[in-house]
Amino acid sequence: MARKKIVAGNWKMNLDRAKARELTAAVAARVGEAGGVELVLCPPALYVETVATALHLAGGKSPSGVALGGQNMHDKASGAFTGEVAPAMFVDLGCQYVILGHSERRTLFGETDAIVNAKTKAALAAGLTPIVCVGETLEEREGGRTDAVVTTQVRGSLAGLSAADIEKIVVAYEPVWAIGTGKVATPLQAQEVHALIRSLLAGLASPEVAGKVRIQYGGSVKPDNAADLACQPDIDGALVGGASLKADDFLGIAKAFQ
Ligand code: PGA
Repeated sequence: MARKKIVAGNWKMNLDRAKARELTAAVAARVGEAGGVELVLCPPALYVETVATALHLAGGKSPSGVALGGQNMHDKASGAFTGEVAPAMFVDLGCQYVILGHSERRTLFGETDAIVNAKTKAALAAGLTPIVCVGETLEEREGGRTDAVVTTQVRGSLAGLSAADIEKIVVAYEPVWAIGTGKVATPLQAQEVHALIRSLLAGLASPEVAGKVRIQYGGSVKPDNAADLACQPDIDGALVGGASLKADDFLGIAKAFQ
């Protein structure tokens, strides 16, 4: 069976409550334009409930078909972790997804593969689908270390997961040099790394499982470059930052993956 394409909007630390509501309503009203593509909105944690309400989410099911996700979470279920959000809290508000190990978490907040691994396991245990992010820096790419870096991140972030768990996750390949820079990877550059990730998943689980896992590309995806990325055999969707803040752009990208 073909992998269902998945386009997720990572709003990062942007918008206010009114704008979050407005953007959600605009996407939900036009979801039909992106028929066949799964859409996920990942607002700041504080606005997850606002977006859930705007989607009329009840019990994790949205009548509009737009799914909801967190941008990060703690790996512990509860306790003295000031400022953190527990996996079950996202589930409680109707989230199905959570982005983990985004390069901004890795570089600005010191998240290691071991931390991403603990969070990935916690997300799965809570019933959330983790979107596990990996990707090399410009220096690593120019030094010819892309494959080695991505291999280490995939193996480290997914260490100890069963084949059944690997089947449930989404992986996002986001070259750090392409995030928020306007410099998108060429479709061939992206495809090469996506194929590598799929072969790593085959080694960790099985070729059959690897064939079911969706691998998103992220990094300066826009409506005008999405179609070329979408043509690649191992690119199953996009994780979109800047362009997800405009309904037109977000839906334009989703349409390219139909
Ligand atoms: P960008 O961000 O689309 O603004 O480059 C992508 C991401 O960080 O997920």
